[in-house]
Amino acid sequence: MTQDEMKRKAAEAAMEYVVTDSIVGVGTGSTVNHFIDLLADIKGKIEGAVSSSEASTERMKKHGIRVYDLNEVNELPVYIDGADESDHYLNLIKGGGGALTREKIIAGAADKFVCIADETKLVDVLGAFPLPVEVIPMARSYIARELVKLGGRPVWRDSFITDNGNIILDVHDFEIMEPIRMENEINKLAGVVTVGIFANRPADVLILGTPEGARTVYSK
Ligand code: A5P
Repeated sequence: MTQDEMKRKAAEAAMEYVVTDSIVGVGTGSTVNHFIDLLADIKGKIEGAVSSSEASTERMKKHGIRVYDLNEVNELPVYIDGADESDHYLNLIKGGGGALTREKIIAGAADKFVCIADETKLVDVLGAFPLPVEVIPMARSYIARELVKLGGRPVWRDSFITDNGNIILDVHDFEIMEPIRMENEINKLAGVVTVGIFANRPADVLILGTPEGARTVYSK
């Protein structure tokens, strides 16, 4: 089974978390694209969605799914999104697609965060995937120097501007043993918009696509 087929399995299993007549939080990425395509089949049974990126918004609108601004929404029972890595406590690295800030906002606003991924994303320790950090453009060099002090090797993501008009530094060589401490440490640097560690607000449920089907992991 291909990695993409495993992503599809995870997306299919996430459908059971969609609450009828409610607004669904929708993330970004190739796994979520499968979820969006499945959501289109039941669009008459939901009120609509809030979206974490322009790309997901465009895909949902093409399917005729109504997309709301988060400010218009009082209740968000569930947020479905992918990840670049998850540990066994469901702390995540996200932002491979550059949508980490809006993803973190919607994850925070949702009652339940269901993460969908293929099984290769589950790791013992976060950090093999370069950690994305969204940065205000004028702070780029300063933040890069600070990340080096923390032991990382930041690389400016080439020709990439986020939906919020900022840049991304992808930080290599971090072994993230204490995700909450590291998230807080990087977040407090002036000029950092968001770091792609989701540990203060981890996922509640992780659905992994495997060759045998979908496997659900709950936080340890
Ligand atoms: C988007 O910014 C990311 O956080 C994605 O959720 C993450 O990169 C997973 O993407 P895939 O589903 O494409 O692997």
